[in-house]
Amino acid sequence: MTRIAVVTGGTRGLGRAAAIALKEKGCTVAVTYHGNDAAAQAFKDETGIAVYKWDVADFPACKAGLQKIEDDLGSVDILVNNAGITRDATLHHMAPEQWVDVINTNLGSVFNMCRNVVPGMRERGFGRIINVSSINGQKGQFGQTNYSAAKAGIVGFTKALAQENAAKGITVNAVAPGYCDTDMVAAVSADVIQQIIAATPVGRLGQPADIARAIMFLASDDADFVTGSTLSVNGGEYMV
Ligand code: CAA
Repeated sequence: MTRIAVVTGGTRGLGRAAAIALKEKGCTVAVTYHGNDAAAQAFKDETGIAVYKWDVADFPACKAGLQKIEDDLGSVDILVNNAGITRDATLHHMAPEQWVDVINTNLGSVFNMCRNVVPGMRERGFGRIINVSSINGQKGQFGQTNYSAAKAGIVGFTKALAQENAAKGITVNAVAPGYCDTDMVAAVSADVIQQIIAATPVGRLGQPADIARAIMFLASDDADFVTGSTLSVNGGEYMV
């Protein structure tokens, strides 16, 4: 695949695995990150993949950042909207900022990024957009009204955008990972993780590479008849 790919939140966790997999398939890859400069530098040193720092919740920052990537590398063919945060709390304890931050980062970013790449993809007649949803957007999760709403929103967004662009050679799909071996999940209490593993027929957490393989399929030319779908990759924890 000699395509140009952008992965948001790509220096750690699921995004990192997707970025490396895309590079191994021959793509020219750029990743974005927001906070962790040390992790970004280590990722860049280890992989040679270009890193760009901006807040994907900020529309003008996305516009400027994507312009810089296109100036540096060329037009974006593949976009993986992976960046996401958690601010878990039960609703009756949730501060408005915990709601707004998660909605803007996890769902607003998908609009911000797509709005800035879709016009070019339409002109060129090719695009692959893969949005990272979550099992918790499909089934809901105690303590995650914000995150579950954002991740469910991604599924509806994906279906609508897929319809708008199917005739232009652009596919838009979502993956819905289960609990994976990442920093985000490591922040959850050990008791909860044990319950999750016990409820997962495959009997383990997902690995970032498990999710990257699903993303790679949806990014490939082989998937040109797959659009508007949500691919669950959760070890059987929730079957839809
Ligand atoms: N269902 C029903 N009741 C539950 C429950 C559940 N899943 N979880 C907790 N409760 C109950 C508890 O038993 C407790 O009841 P009692 O007061 O009668 O003992 C009550 O709710 C309060 O629970 P906590 O003590 O946990 O409440 P807290 O305020 O200390 O913590 C919380 C709240 C931070 C949300 C905590 O419950 C938590 O971390 N939950 C896990 C959230 C989670 O799974 N996040 C996923 C992050 S990873 C991710 O999101 C990636 C991805 O895409 C998969």
